[in-house]
Amino acid sequence: MKIAVLAGDGIGPEVAAEGVRVLKTVSWRFNLDLEFENALIGGCAYDATGDPLPEETLKICRDAGAVFMGAVGGPAWDNLPAEKRPEAGLLKLRKTFALYANIRPVLLYPELAFLSCLRQDLVKQGVDFVVVRELTGGVYFGRPAGQEQRDGLRCGFDTMIYNEEEVRRIARVAFTLAGSRRSKICSVDKANVLHSSRLWRAVVNETAAEFPEVELSHMYVDNAAMQIVSNPGRFDVMLCSNLFGDILSDEASALTGSLGLLPSASLGETQFGVYEPCHGSAPDMAGQDTANPIAAILSAALLLRLSLQQGAPAVAVEKAVRKVLASGLRTQDLVREGESFVGCRAMGEAIAKELEK
Ligand code: IPM
Ligand code: MG
Repeated sequence: MKIAVLAGDGIGPEVAAEGVRVLKTVSWRFNLDLEFENALIGGCAYDATGDPLPEETLKICRDAGAVFMGAVGGPAWDNLPAEKRPEAGLLKLRKTFALYANIRPVLLYPELAFLSCLRQDLVKQGVDFVVVRELTGGVYFGRPAGQEQRDGLRCGFDTMIYNEEEVRRIARVAFTLAGSRRSKICSVDKANVLHSSRLWRAVVNETAAEFPEVELSHMYVDNAAMQIVSNPGRFDVMLCSNLFGDILSDEASALTGSLGLLPSASLGETQFGVYEPCHGSAPDMAGQDTANPIAAILSAALLLRLSLQQGAPAVAVEKAVRKVLASGLRTQDLVREGESFVGCRAMGEAIAKELEK
């Protein structure tokens, strides 16, 4: 099985290298015969080719069973035209492969509970939910979008639009996932204001009829943003549109103590998927070996489980992460003032070593 590695910008290459290290270890231990091929995406791709997602990269991705990504973006590319920006490369990758379902598990490790932004009495109830984010529609892709002069004033505009098929297919992903968990879905929208949300809610209600065993509730996004920090234990699967899921998943990461812990998987109708940490490229940390590779490593576990259908190796990676955290090893983002920590590479090495046992 071929895996395309798109390390990207900023801390992307550092965390992706540790993810690949772990995948190689797993490949050896479980006889998986994984092959890796590097390709460019984001700002580094723009610098090398003038395109944030060059054709060569798309070709390598097409030949692969899964894509393993670092992160894209940075101040060096912030003033480029929209279609040349690093983020445009990532959005095009998602769109090209029709990866409409973004899965972001939010899990609080008891040993890191002290890092959570939550009060300790809330932490005790546990945090274990999944944000299912629609990834190829909504305001990220709606047209018209742009900037123009209107009545002598500069205007910027985007279009938030969903069709019923787009809502139905992501709703089915969320209902199916909920069925394998605690069978509860909270669908997030702004149906009190937005037309696109009213359609969203109607189609989610229709889809619910196909899944009678799953309990559905609806929540306005502003309320959901508040409930995530005041009562996160109530959530099992949160079904979100593209923009709302983007925002709420970053917020949710603060519950777990660090954005450096959250993995993600982006899937379409086949087993092909793109796996990336939820965090960004953190340009200010780049090249210092201070990033936390765990989000990337847990994304590698999702790749094993969802694209390669290798459940046991996926569990082995997740267990190795737990073990290393339980042993007290920490990256900079996981310590309190004055406590000692290790770098990105040392954390990756420790997790790989655990896997070798
Ligand atoms: C994410 C990121 C991306 C997004 C950016 C980098 C385009 O924030 O994956 O959450 O907004 O989808
Ligand atoms: Mg985001």
